[in-house]
Amino acid sequence: MKILLTYYSRTRVTAGVAKAISQKLNCDVEEIKDTKDRSGAIKYLTSCIDALRETPTVIEPIDKDILEYDLVIVGSPVWAATMANPVLAYLTENKDKFKELAFFCTCSSSGYEKTIAKMEEITGKSGIAKLFMTKTDIDSSFDVKVDEFIENINEKNV
Ligand SMILES: Cc1cc2nc3c(=O)[nH]c(=O)nc-3n(C[C@H](O)[C@H](O)[C@H](O)COP(=O)(O)O)c2cc1C
Repeated sequence: MKILLTYYSRTRVTAGVAKAISQKLNCDVEEIKDTKDRSGAIKYLTSCIDALRETPTVIEPIDKDILEYDLVIVGSPVWAATMANPVLAYLTENKDKFKELAFFCTCSSSGYEKTIAKMEEITGKSGIAKLFMTKTDIDSSFDVKVDEFIENINEKNV
């Protein structure tokens, strides 16, 4: 099975989870890059508003051809109990190209169920595996949760 892992990360937490998953699966990786500057405290607030309003954002062109992959794993930070706008842009623009999807998200503490439900709603596909990582999970059960996610993917035998 050919797997692509695509993620967006503002402060590299989701990037860390993406790295662990992709190393264990030995899969291709694509980072979604936003054209909008989202660094700093003020941009944190404007990003919250963008997430709540689902304001469209322009992402940089993607390199990987989604049609070549049996499974795309998509990772996002939780923003205001939904996915980050760059991930919303990626999923919306490509929703007809995915064969199978799996999802993961990182957050401080809450909003992950709604985030993954929204990712499924946008694409019209249920994730074959789902992973969420709160800050506590990252500090205390990182490897256990990543391994469980990978097992779930492998069991599906896409
Ligand atoms: C705009 C914004 C909104 C956020 N909203 C939530 C939230 O609703 N719930 C939560 O638990 N964490 C929230 N967070 C925290 C991030 O989800 C968390 O720090 C995440 O792991 C960051 O991932 P990243 O480093 O890959 O960007 C928010 C962060 C940002 C920047």
